[in-house]
Amino acid sequence: MKYIFLIITLFLTFPCVAQKNIIKPGEIWPDQHGDHIQAHGGGIIKLGKYYYWYGEERRKGLDTNLRFVSCYRSENLATWKFEGDVVKMSDPEQLGTGWVLERPKVYHRKSDGKFVMYFHLDNKNYSYARVGVAISDKANGDFKFIKSFRPLNRPSRDIGQFIDDDGSNYLIFEDRELGFHIVKLSTDLLSVEKEMSLVNAPLEGGAIVHYKNLYYAIGSALTGWAPNPNKFASSKSLSGPWTKFGDIAPLETNTYKSQSTMMLKVVGSRSTTVIFMGDQWNPAAQWDSRYLWMPLTIGNGKLWLPNPQPWKINVRTGETTLVKN
Ligand code: GAL
Repeated sequence: MKYIFLIITLFLTFPCVAQKNIIKPGEIWPDQHGDHIQAHGGGIIKLGKYYYWYGEERRKGLDTNLRFVSCYRSENLATWKFEGDVVKMSDPEQLGTGWVLERPKVYHRKSDGKFVMYFHLDNKNYSYARVGVAISDKANGDFKFIKSFRPLNRPSRDIGQFIDDDGSNYLIFEDRELGFHIVKLSTDLLSVEKEMSLVNAPLEGGAIVHYKNLYYAIGSALTGWAPNPNKFASSKSLSGPWTKFGDIAPLETNTYKSQSTMMLKVVGSRSTTVIFMGDQWNPAAQWDSRYLWMPLTIGNGKLWLPNPQPWKINVRTGETTLVKN
């Protein structure tokens, strides 16, 4: 009893103790320097005890001829250390003013320990529609451009990344005419090994998670930077068949003004949590685009994004708690 009293007193006296490591959807998310994290349209991989978050670097004042990808590192998914810009690229294929590097995703190559980055490479009209590939010896760069291509010889715009529990690596890409492709990457990660599924649905910001014997795929409609109701489907296999698409949040919220970029599975000693990672884009001030991360309600073929509110995760146990505003 004495101890409970002591703990309560401590929390009342030092509210910051209780307020640590809270993930606050939609708010400014400061890195170790207090700067808002710039990792838009991003993706995360786990290496040992560290999570690495890569994304579009869109801070103010960047050289507008170059495109940048940032990298952040964390042990707890709440506090992130900026590792630097791991890509500083000049127009690699004479695409001209306004060329596009978006949605970078990094894979770890087991054979030699190198890191392979995929990204959406395009011109300003989005008609080039290819994936770009860059490579680095280390997780925190520098990544050097090696090539671009069209997976399955199809146009590829938004890309997503999925790594299955057995370590196999998949790329999701949006092909306006045919739909949503899920392809397995080759062992060297430099090309496509085979197509797993072609889902006949126009979906961007594609993401997949494997949770309790089912695969869940989510994506957004094609409305550019404007948010829309994101959808999900499930399947017993990456080869399908996929169920009909259903809503992940109340329609009128437009996915709480966000767009999917990844689902991150945290397997802990007590629980497994799947985190929805979404972007809240601010096209007029991209550096101020925010993140909407929330633990999903998922299982038995259902997936739902709860009303966003501050929350915490214990990455060791996998358990999450909601924090009162
Ligand atoms: C979105 C896409 C973003 C970006 C934007 C440009 O639909 O998800 O990554 O390409 O369009 O308008």
